[in-house]
Amino acid sequence: MSQNHLNPHTNNGMAQYDAHGIWMPELSMGEFRELTELLGLHLGFRFPDSKQKLVAARLASRLRDLGLVSYHDYWLLLRRPEEKTELQRAIDLVTTNETSFFREPSHFDFLRDELIPPLAKQGRPVRIWSAACSTGQEPYSIAMTLAESLGMHADWQVLATDISERVLAHARHGLYAMHDADQISLELLKKYCLKGNGEYEGQFLIERALRNRVRFSQVNLMNAFDPELAHFDGVFLRNVMIYLESDRRDEMIERLKDRINPGGYLIVGQAESMAIKTSGFTLVQPSIYRRNS
Ligand SMILES: C[S@@+](CC[C@H](N)C(=O)[O-])C[C@H]1O[C@@H](n2cnc3c(N)ncnc32)[C@H](O)[C@@H]1O
Repeated sequence: MSQNHLNPHTNNGMAQYDAHGIWMPELSMGEFRELTELLGLHLGFRFPDSKQKLVAARLASRLRDLGLVSYHDYWLLLRRPEEKTELQRAIDLVTTNETSFFREPSHFDFLRDELIPPLAKQGRPVRIWSAACSTGQEPYSIAMTLAESLGMHADWQVLATDISERVLAHARHGLYAMHDADQISLELLKKYCLKGNGEYEGQFLIERALRNRVRFSQVNLMNAFDPELAHFDGVFLRNVMIYLESDRRDEMIERLKDRINPGGYLIVGQAESMAIKTSGFTLVQPSIYRRNS
């Protein structure tokens, strides 16, 4: 039970205010642990103690909006089975969604030069899954690569999933700040993106034809996959495993393996290469694994 049920309206000297004079509830280590244990159960993460301030900053506005005076009260609320929507909001707030177009460019070179050509030669469709797609820059980069290699009307598909509904909404919309385009070549930008003007000045939109080739859906990688989920020639699972607890990560990789066609590839973030301990994969280059036949 937390000791920190602060009332911001009492002047007990413990309430904090941010630089704008807005009340910031205090998150004790006990409250941090109970909250992140609950959220971690869904996310598969173990939040290190160093994330205490970050979690407090991300959730403070929800406490204010809900009129709650402590994080312990928020934890009590989130534990209620009927509070699924609030739990989703909390998950949206604590996940880190940093991403960019053509991030870790060697993966897109691999897609273009190694993954696609043999399938194209055999006339087989190409199915790629961006399994923690964040705000969409990764699946749209994949889609541009496929469209360039195979053409817009060829038989290829991109599935893009994430646990966070907030990032999925952004991804479906496909609207980005102009500075996000830094990693997109001028040629691809002209072909697949529309420059905004008027109220969209300083932004660009992924062109509808390309947007329609990416299917977005919410999937929590910690749960069993829908039996209807397809099988893929490549799965991008990048920059999501960093905080995953090792046993849950191994279980997830095992389940993912079943969704990769024999000879297909699992592509992880360059900082995550050591995370793959599951048998049945062969490392073909740093951070790229081939599923054994
Ligand atoms: C740092 S972003 C990485 C985005 C992209 N893959 C990249 O490398 O640029 C991590 C994403 O993983 C998502 N995520 C975290 N836990 C997840 C889970 N259990 N299931 C599905 N997605 C998850 C987060 O919502 C976030 O959008």
